[in-house]
Amino acid sequence: MSQEVIKIRGGQTLSGTVHNHGAKNSAVAIIPATLLAEEPVTIDGLPQISDVETLVSLLEDLNINTDLKDTTLNVDPTQIENAPLPNNKVQSLRASYYMMGAMLGRFNKCVIGLPGGCPLGPRPIDQHIKGFKALGAVVDESSSTSMKIEADKLVGANIFLDMVSVGATINIMLAAVRAEGQTVIENAAKEPEVVDVAAFLSSLGAKIKGAGTSTIKITGVERLTGSNHQVIPDRIEAGTYMCIAAACGKDVTINNIIPTHIEPLTVKLKELGVDVNMGEDSVRINRSEPYESVNIKTLVYPGFATDLQQPITPLLFLSNGISTVTETIYPERFRHVDELKNMGGDISADKGTATIKPSQLKGTSVYASDLRAGACLIVAALLAEGVTTIYNVKHIYRGYTDIVNTLKQLGADIWTEEV
Ligand code: EPU
Repeated sequence: MSQEVIKIRGGQTLSGTVHNHGAKNSAVAIIPATLLAEEPVTIDGLPQISDVETLVSLLEDLNINTDLKDTTLNVDPTQIENAPLPNNKVQSLRASYYMMGAMLGRFNKCVIGLPGGCPLGPRPIDQHIKGFKALGAVVDESSSTSMKIEADKLVGANIFLDMVSVGATINIMLAAVRAEGQTVIENAAKEPEVVDVAAFLSSLGAKIKGAGTSTIKITGVERLTGSNHQVIPDRIEAGTYMCIAAACGKDVTINNIIPTHIEPLTVKLKELGVDVNMGEDSVRINRSEPYESVNIKTLVYPGFATDLQQPITPLLFLSNGISTVTETIYPERFRHVDELKNMGGDISADKGTATIKPSQLKGTSVYASDLRAGACLIVAALLAEGVTTIYNVKHIYRGYTDIVNTLKQLGADIWTEEV
């Protein structure tokens, strides 16, 4: 069977402007959340990625009328029907787990396939389930391919998350917005995407306080109306292009950003020695050399995002000493390391920490094991001598809008081929 690969001849200097899109990890929660509305909803500023298309098609499976054009989605849920979703679409992405919270909130019942997503090591959803159960649902996990979640009625509860989880925080909010009484989520995730989903739900008439802090209070309402919502800019897409610009950029501007959302990355890039000029809603970046070595540790927001540790790693080969990257969210998120080694990078990973030494990368064939590993390989390929062929690029298309053309317009020697 043929597949598309991305090919990059490294060593070009990139310059120009990148338009940053709406946040993938907000969009993938807000699209399922639209099914809680009882009137039409419009979502603007969506990224044009395959995860969005898959979730829209899951809405269609529930007899919801949708119209997705460019970055705008119109949803008319007035003819909605509760149908089981035990199909391979659910398994093609992680965020399909938000259909659970949303359908439970809307129907008090759902039957749904188990979520898939990037292989980052174990990714349990026990905290989501704990939340649904606390709200009164019975969760049948006896099938190896699907899950049945059902409640006579949902009643607000106090839920303390054992670990800070973006997915569990959002999923519990989705299930709780129409529950009877008050739900309190403690040790909640504070990520901007949680705040964006809360803002969307509030625009439908939900009563949510404290999103963006570790305690979120939700007072159930009987029905939710329609609204218009604009998705926040993607801090990870922006951060990826910042890493690309730091690798080989001369005057690269990334617009449509919220500077505070990317501050942990900005601080690290400056520590490396990158020339970063932050504007009100844009950032201008130049590569400057030599770079200093740095130590990076991923943490929940507002710490350094796990989703950016892979894209920033190739920059550390340009440093004048030994750098480390310690991963605390997904300790096995290091599948890019062997690929970078194949490219000649002096890198090793052990017990959740990668150690990176100065190296000149060389083009070869590499495999994108997951979305951000794919982004890492793009940065590495732009830096490498010769041509790099990246396989398994479907992961990259799950999260980056039109990345090949965007890089081409900046001056990269990049193209796709069917092999
Ligand atoms: N965890 C549990 N049990 C749970 C939930 C989470 O043990 O019930 C653990 C996870 O295994 C992980 C940690 O808690 O070790 C944090 O996981 P979290 O739930 O926050 O991750 P997620 O919601 O599944 C989202 C993003 C990820 C991003 C993480 C961390 C979406 C769809 N995905 O995942 O994004 O890495 O938060 O910020 O929002 C990506 O975009 O490439 C990506 C993987």
